[in-house]
Amino acid sequence: MFMFEEQIIELLKKELKKEAQGDIKLEIPPKKEMGDFAFPCFNLAKEFKKSPVEVAKQIASKLKPVGMVEKIIPLGPYVNFFLQKGNVAESILKSIHEEKDTYGSSKEGKQRVVCIDYSHPNVAKPFGIGHLRSTMIGRALYNMLKFHDFKPMGLNHLGDWGTQFGALIYAHLTWGDRERLKTDAIKYLLEIYVKFNHEKEKTPELQDKAKEWFKKLEDNDSEAIKLWARFRELSLEEFQRIYKMLNVDFESYDGEAFFKDKFDDAVDLLKTKVKTELSDGALIVPLEGFEVPAIIVKSDGTSTYITRDIAAAVYRLKTYKPYKVLYIVGSEQKLHFKMLFKIIGLLGKDESKFEHINFGFYLSADGSKMATRKGTIVFMEDVLNESIALARKTIEEKNPDLANKEEVAKKIGVGSVIFNDLINDRIHDVVFDWKKMLDFEGDTGPYLMYTFARASSIVRKAIKEHSLAPGTSVDFSKLSHESEQKVVMLLSKFKEKISESLAQYKPHVLAQYLIELGRAFNEFYHSCPCLKEEDKELQKARLLLIDCTRQVIKNGLKLLNIDSPDEM
Ligand code: ARG
Repeated sequence: MFMFEEQIIELLKKELKKEAQGDIKLEIPPKKEMGDFAFPCFNLAKEFKKSPVEVAKQIASKLKPVGMVEKIIPLGPYVNFFLQKGNVAESILKSIHEEKDTYGSSKEGKQRVVCIDYSHPNVAKPFGIGHLRSTMIGRALYNMLKFHDFKPMGLNHLGDWGTQFGALIYAHLTWGDRERLKTDAIKYLLEIYVKFNHEKEKTPELQDKAKEWFKKLEDNDSEAIKLWARFRELSLEEFQRIYKMLNVDFESYDGEAFFKDKFDDAVDLLKTKVKTELSDGALIVPLEGFEVPAIIVKSDGTSTYITRDIAAAVYRLKTYKPYKVLYIVGSEQKLHFKMLFKIIGLLGKDESKFEHINFGFYLSADGSKMATRKGTIVFMEDVLNESIALARKTIEEKNPDLANKEEVAKKIGVGSVIFNDLINDRIHDVVFDWKKMLDFEGDTGPYLMYTFARASSIVRKAIKEHSLAPGTSVDFSKLSHESEQKVVMLLSKFKEKISESLAQYKPHVLAQYLIELGRAFNEFYHSCPCLKEEDKELQKARLLLIDCTRQVIKNGLKLLNIDSPDEM
């Protein structure tokens, strides 16, 4: 919170000693003529035994402007506050100029550990566009938590265990092609998996083969383990290529396989603490409030997805001593996590630490589910490469003389895919539309990156051609234009927006704020010249404002894991 907000809250607190228990929340009036902050009086009506309009009048008449507060008036059911513009701009712009890359950060986290289970693609399957959502939402939360002094732990809970690996081993040994496994692992593994399922329709007994091989895996059979390890390693190599493009890494890649034999204690505990039952040879836990029980151990003694998750949860509590454990997984697994958290509670652990951060699907521009476009899977690497190619084409058209064209194309291409994912409220589905995503005028990554490059270019020119570097010995009261004040006020909201994103685990709050800031900046840019401004004092003040906006857009995009080029 900035000093001026604190000053207003102090004033109100003094006046409302007993009436206003709890937090005093200020709002931003819809119109500039109505002041900078408004205090709503609805909740005080009862206490004062007056209408909110009367309450606002009474409070306003008692308050005396101090510090940066210039004027206080009642407006309907609100008390509105007007600030001394120069001082406000001074306090915000000076902080940004001083704090630079750390502007917007805080010490709020106090190094508390937050486990983030994210990305977690499935081995031997393509990294699909669905995993992009988990990867980017998870990573943005990771960055924001770190910025606010938490200690995030990125856990890539790989899907590297389960009956499907039995099927894969059987298929590879039966119809296999070693060469293709070497050169084109994921596509090859996908093909033999599809073939297995196809053949299974004709010969249902094949499922037994898959189970047999999975049982061998669980029993540590050396041939089975060797093949499995090879599939895993080749898949990881492909995933790493994508992570490199997206600039993402993890503290741990312990996937389901890692937890396969760590559930015995949990099962014992379940047996003593909860009622387990045998049903057709399988060990199940009936859960109150659920229509189906959780299957803990299958009749052949093998583990299930939920068993491995129970083991992982217990392990994480013990190993990381976390303040929170977040699972960034699509809404289709809601039931799974409800069950998991319930069981964690039944085990006597603190289930309130656990949270399922769910999200919607990707849809094609025509509204169909993206993963099955034309009956085929959309490969993430192809999507990124196509986006980079489109960015490359745009650069050739718009700025063919640009230096480092390839590097810039990569940043724009990848950044637009990421931003398109994060600008959407995670609980909604995302439409994947190339045209919209790369539109330089829309609510897009390229729009923000272009705004950042524009601001950077003005600062560069000022230094080079006008020997003028952004600095803070300026007359802040010169920034009196409406569009300048709007940018200043938005800049002051940055930290708050990060906190808001974190409170809801929703990165789109930050992404949308950045778009709002970009729009305000471009409005200012079009109505207030800087390099051509004759009033030298005004010019200096505007240059600082431009440089501060540049800094905040940069910090914001970085939190969303987007690296913005200085020039494009
Ligand atoms: N691999 C799973 C999938 O792609 C997601 C794993 C989520 N994490 C977990 N701990 N269950 O659907």
